[in-house]
Amino acid sequence: MSTADLSSGSLFPAAIRATSPHRVLGRFAAVVCIVLAGCGDNPPPALGGDPDNGRLLLRQFGCGSCHRIPGVAAARGNVGPSLEGVATRVYLGGVLPNTPENMVRWIRNPKQFDPETAMPDLPIAEGQARDIVAYLQGLK
Ligand code: HEC
Repeated sequence: MSTADLSSGSLFPAAIRATSPHRVLGRFAAVVCIVLAGCGDNPPPALGGDPDNGRLLLRQFGCGSCHRIPGVAAARGNVGPSLEGVATRVYLGGVLPNTPENMVRWIRNPKQFDPETAMPDLPIAEGQARDIVAYLQGLK
């Protein structure tokens, strides 16, 4: 093959034509993905918790007496920070890197991570904390 063959450009249009059916398929796959959900925008709840039960538990444990919590009735407390956007916060309580696992630990034993915090250790079971975190992870 001569240099002239390579530089003529004739190979490239053919290559583009060859990929276009794949692009169409790719778009189709993206649409199917969005229709079926579970892709990208709607990941499964963190740690397998139940966000609906989490919302009920946030009420039962009275978290709203200290926190504003979007979507939780009467949760307008101003002792602690608003939990709006808590899923995207960098540190919990300013000390603990924010991951779903750490949020479970913080909710069960905040004083373990910050002995001075005004947030009390509450008798919350691991599974209950996972449900709460599943709800809070939706607050972005
Ligand atoms: C007596 C008030 C009080 C109660 C009740 C309370 N918290 Fe808190 N919470 C706080 C305070 C104050 C902070 C800030 C902690 C710090 O910075 O030291 C906090 C921090 C947090 C954080 C970390 C937020 C961040 O941006 O750092 C989460 C998550 C949280 N609380 C969830 C809960 C949940 C869930 C409940 C109910 C089970 C609850 N809290 C009950 C006072 C409270």
